[in-house]
Amino acid sequence: MGDAVLRAEGVVAGYVPDLPILKAVDLAVRRASVTVIIGPNGAGKSTLIKTIAGLVPLSSGRIIHDGADISRIRPDRLAAQGIAYVPQMDNIFRTLTIRQNLDLALRRAGAEAAGRLEDLYARFPPLADKRNEKAGALSGGQRQFLAVAMALAARPSLILMDEPSAGLSPKAAQEVLECARGLTEQGVTILLVEQNVKQALRLADHCYILAEGRNQLDGSAADLLSDPVVGEIYLGARRKGAA
Ligand SMILES: Nc1ncnc2c1ncn2[C@@H]1O[C@H](COP(=O)(O)OP(=O)(O)O)[C@@H](O)[C@H]1O
Ligand SMILES: [Mg+2]
Repeated sequence: MGDAVLRAEGVVAGYVPDLPILKAVDLAVRRASVTVIIGPNGAGKSTLIKTIAGLVPLSSGRIIHDGADISRIRPDRLAAQGIAYVPQMDNIFRTLTIRQNLDLALRRAGAEAAGRLEDLYARFPPLADKRNEKAGALSGGQRQFLAVAMALAARPSLILMDEPSAGLSPKAAQEVLECARGLTEQGVTILLVEQNVKQALRLADHCYILAEGRNQLDGSAADLLSDPVVGEIYLGARRKGAA
């Protein structure tokens, strides 16, 4: 993929020295696309996202973003590199109001903070309506929108999202995924991990399947959606697993 904005090559990474979780992972993400990572529990999906975000040490291989080698980027340098990371858990401050959460996210925006806050309220009207309420009082879907809004505060060109629809109703999950899709229309690139495989494949451009810390398969989301083996393992399993 020649026009990849993010590229991982032979990434080996893990939490403890000599105990790699990612054993060799390659990834190429096209600009302004949605790329989804799926795979069984423990496959290393979160670890891959965290490695790209500089939160898990990489022991070999490299990660390139926008022409810059970010293989061992310090997490506090991510925003300056145009990257935002939305963790799966604890991605907002529940005891603070929505306004306070957004102010925190905008603390480095300087003179632009006020304008960006208005942009975020305009983009997410439910957050504007509830700006003085505690974030913990929001619905699950609205909390994810707040997490996305906080990520957008730094005007990233790449957003890494770890299971943004986990625990949400199918409708809320769909809204969050559609929000991610909508961001690509403004040129933002999205790399996300998803358990809602069918929903994600319908929205994504490209999909990587990880298993045991390695690439298992990748292809266009449309191809994988109609792939019988993928269907049996990931879509069938999902149907059985769903309540
Ligand atoms: N903080 C951690 N310290 C040590 N091992 C971890 C940590 N987080 C995850 N792991 C291990 O890394 C492996 C991959 O986990 P993870 O990347 O969270 O998988 P996935 O997101 O695909 O479910 C698992 O075996 C898990 O136990
Ligand atoms: Mg995970």
